[in-house]
Amino acid sequence: MAGISDKLPEITRSRQGRRWKDRAMKRHPSLIPLSSHHQNALVQAKSLRSRSGKRTAEERRNVAKTFLKFWESHGQSHFRVEEEVVLPTLARFGIARAEAISEMLTQHVEIRALVQEMADLIERNEAPSAERMVELGELLDRHVRLEEHTVFPYVERTVPEAELVRLRERLV
Ligand SMILES: [Fe+2]
Ligand SMILES: [Fe+2]
Repeated sequence: MAGISDKLPEITRSRQGRRWKDRAMKRHPSLIPLSSHHQNALVQAKSLRSRSGKRTAEERRNVAKTFLKFWESHGQSHFRVEEEVVLPTLARFGIARAEAISEMLTQHVEIRALVQEMADLIERNEAPSAERMVELGELLDRHVRLEEHTVFPYVERTVPEAELVRLRERLV
């Protein structure tokens, strides 16, 4: 289980950009589609967090609506692929009961709960609070970093090459 429960490195934002690039270049081709979704998720996370307390209710509604469109077109299916394809493949060759995997799945539930709450508010023509939007943005950010820095490297180290290639076929 070496490495999988490692603490995430504490890095500054400027260094994070460089490290992200380094990692993306090393990412196994099978996981690149998921990694590119992650970059889109980071853009959404930033939008949820930015100007947090300064937005009017109408502006918060618009940001939330944009986020919900992203969620319905990409986020939901991305989570399902990770749960139904990536993690079961990992579990065949590695250890599913790892701290990082539990944390990843718990975050999926927490993100879904915050998204459901946001969708309910939009349906009622209300606006999510700035605090809730920041909470969701920060959680998404942490989630992407956990997968990119810890879970995906574990998949790459653990799943045999032939199975990683098969994984790609099952992701499309
Ligand atoms: Fe995820
Ligand atoms: Fe992901």
